[in-house]
Amino acid sequence: MSAVQRSPLESGVSPLFSLARMQVDDLPAVMAIENDVYPHPWTHGNFLDSLYSGYEIWTLRDASALLAGYFLLMLSVDEAHLLNIAVRRSMQGQGIGRLMLEHAAALARARDMKSILLEVRPSNDRAVMVYERYGFAGIGIRKGYYPLAGGNREDAIVMSLAL
Ligand SMILES: CC(C)(COP(=O)(O)OP(=O)(O)OC[C@H]1O[C@@H](n2cnc3c(N)ncnc32)[C@H](O)[C@@H]1OP(=O)(O)O)[C@@H](O)C(=O)NCCC(=O)NCCS
Repeated sequence: MSAVQRSPLESGVSPLFSLARMQVDDLPAVMAIENDVYPHPWTHGNFLDSLYSGYEIWTLRDASALLAGYFLLMLSVDEAHLLNIAVRRSMQGQGIGRLMLEHAAALARARDMKSILLEVRPSNDRAVMVYERYGFAGIGIRKGYYPLAGGNREDAIVMSLAL
């Protein structure tokens, strides 16, 4: 069975982690991770706007309630858009990103989405690798999608996963 067919909703995610909808109270811890792992992080206001937009926004905490990561998923007609996914730097490379992708896919499938779309910087080798390992495939490029230092722009790779 491929990983994308395993439903974390059915399996209870993991005995070591708990998932919960992100709350405004989570934002200080979320922003600490966001500012640490991204060269161009989202702002507090971006997260607040998202929380009020009705997106699927989830946090993952470890057994000691430490915030391990979070993701934001926007659901459209039949396509989900993964807007952000991040794992605490010290906890990366342990399968947490994959666990959250599984949860995002299970959520999207449960809401009758047919695919998940995302954008990723070509320079973000690690994220591209993680998405490919999970089954996402590149379907195009958005020119000048991301800001770069010095006022330049970086293209985005658009990736899609069929559900
Ligand atoms: C991208 C990110 C969410 C991935 O989370 P993670 O917890 O580190 O990833 P995982 O440990 O779950 O790795 C998932 C898979 O990718 C593989 N992988 C992870 N890092 C890798 C690397 N550097 N090279 C090769 N493979 C790698 C893992 O082996 C795993 O594959 P497997 O399940 O088949 O063994 C995390 O690194 C992160 O928060 N990065 C900063 C924020 C970011 O760039 N987000 C994405 C924006 S588009």
